[in-house]
Amino acid sequence: MTDSAAPAIPPKQEAAGIDLSGFKLISQGAEARVWEGTYLDVPAVIKQRFSKKYRHASLDTKLTQSRLKQEVRSILRARKLGVPTPVLYYVEHDAASIYMEKVQGVSVKEALQGKQLDQQGLHTLLRAIGRQVALLHDGGLIHGDLTTSNMLLRAPDSELVLIDFGLSYNNTLAEDKAVDLYVLERAFTSAHSALGKLFDDVLASYRQHSRMWCPTLNKFAEVRMRGRKRTMVG
Ligand SMILES: Nc1ncnc2c1ncn2[C@@H]1O[C@H](COP(=O)(O)OP(=O)(O)O)[C@@H](O)[C@H]1O
Ligand SMILES: [Mg+2]
Repeated sequence: MTDSAAPAIPPKQEAAGIDLSGFKLISQGAEARVWEGTYLDVPAVIKQRFSKKYRHASLDTKLTQSRLKQEVRSILRARKLGVPTPVLYYVEHDAASIYMEKVQGVSVKEALQGKQLDQQGLHTLLRAIGRQVALLHDGGLIHGDLTTSNMLLRAPDSELVLIDFGLSYNNTLAEDKAVDLYVLERAFTSAHSALGKLFDDVLASYRQHSRMWCPTLNKFAEVRMRGRKRTMVG
């Protein structure tokens, strides 16, 4: 496993004789780097977790491995629930790396900030978001990091694809679903302040598609209230 201070070199599949030297770094996050290139003749990304210097070494390895496993499981689980996720190509356990389909297209964040979407396209997108989150939640999966950067629109038909399941976990509690929705609402109001009201469309679709919408949306109202109080005090 690499650490955050090590030079950014993509993982290698030397044993299989596969050359990954053409991979380019496209994202450097707090816990992972994402590389883009061609794997077995198809456009692919490699998401590689790195260790954190300040964490105890063996604890760190355990944590990195468990996040990796959780991410892989959740990607597959989400797909089983009917939520599009990148196709997985390979998991390189020792290098804490996931090889997956490169989703060709823009993020929802880019789409919302750009000018390409007309009213109808926007409405369709917001409804798709509400529906997919409802499918995850009804299947007992909490995404854990619902932001508009973690949602991609796959070209050419703009299918909504969810990514970044590193913080996902299994849970059926209304409270956890509500917090998941609240994180998403905050992402909407912060990155897309002019579009804050659009979240109503997401919620309306969630309500329509989730069997358990009632306790979840009640909790959501509470969580929102707590959030507002915190903002007023702090
Ligand atoms: N399968 C993918 N296809 C296309 N782009 C991706 C894919 N996975 C990740 N990315 C890009 O890399 C960025 C970071 O990946 P992400 O899984 O969200 O990691 P982080 O935990 O660092 O946010 C994403 O916001 C997206 O732009
Ligand atoms: Mg992300």
